Amino acid sequence: MTILDQNATTQYGDWRDDFYSKGYAVIKGAISSEKAAHYRQKELDWLCSFDMGLDLNDRSTWTSEHLPQSFKAGMYLHYSAAHEKYVWDARLEPGVITPFAQLWNTEDLLVSFDTINITFPGRTDVEWSPWPHVDQAPERKGLSCVQGILNLSEAGPKDGGLLLMEGSSKLFDQFFAGNPPDRSQGIGAKHYDFYPFKEHHVRWYEEQRCKLVKVCAEPGDLILWDSRSMHYAAFPEPESEVIRSIIYVCYTPASHATEQDLEKKKELFRKWETSTHWPHCNIHGHGKAMVDGEVDPREREEPLEKPVLSERLLQLAGVKSY
Ligand SMILES: [Fe+2]
Repeated sequence: MTILDQNATTQYGDWRDDFYSKGYAVIKGAISSEKAAHYRQKELDWLCSFDMGLDLNDRSTWTSEHLPQSFKAGMYLHYSAAHEKYVWDARLEPGVITPFAQLWNTEDLLVSFDTINITFPGRTDVEWSPWPHVDQAPERKGLSCVQGILNLSEAGPKDGGLLLMEGSSKLFDQFFAGNPPDRSQGIGAKHYDFYPFKEHHVRWYEEQRCKLVKVCAEPGDLILWDSRSMHYAAFPEPESEVIRSIIYVCYTPASHATEQDLEKKKELFRKWETSTHWPHCNIHGHGKAMVDGEVDPREREEPLEKPVLSERLLQLAGVKSY
């Protein structure tokens, strides 16, 4: 049993009670709405910087033709997206770090080089289907990772956002005891801590009285979830007018990393590469964006605006030790 699982028996009188019982929590106003608007604008400016004819006021341009490559029509895994100054500024926000420090009982944390998500509503040029999954390997026991979304846009019931199976984190071991993991369906070492579910698995959780919920949040809120919670992204419904805009944030204790993984992390930082949700292990870069076997000419060697390399930033990046 990990420290975090032991904590689950404590009553805190704050968001942690929700987190441990439901497998997720929304922390209201982790950053101010003004700051959220600032980071959102920086994110949208970044997307427009590729000069592909994207016009935020013209829906006809919200198509692949006018956007750099992304995963699931919104996650930007390349172009040094994870290392833009505004992304690091957001990661350094006390209101974002403190909840993780409370969970892990330490300030000596590493942060993931995870990316951003900008999802346009009303797109008809992309196929989208649910991909319910957990972001923790079935073989890994106990609460090992807490993921986060720094929410920068309105995430109402019809907007793009997070769908999560409430209560599923606690059933993680029970599920895999009864449904031995089929690891042949994995998608490589990069995704060791990832397990996709089939439709009847979703039903199994529902039969255990879990409930699929749309996690609603306002700009500036921080959504945290146990990586053992079944979840996936909700694509904006046709009624939504909102361009979904978020930053994925995740911190774990620096003491959890091996020397070898810290070396890998330093190297990714040096190359300004984007990595997985995990801060201390699963240190795999996404490499360069490719087009027809060649590096995308729009790929970048460094962020458009580099972060200020403060001591705290370098510690969170795993470059300097605590
Ligand atoms: Fe996920």
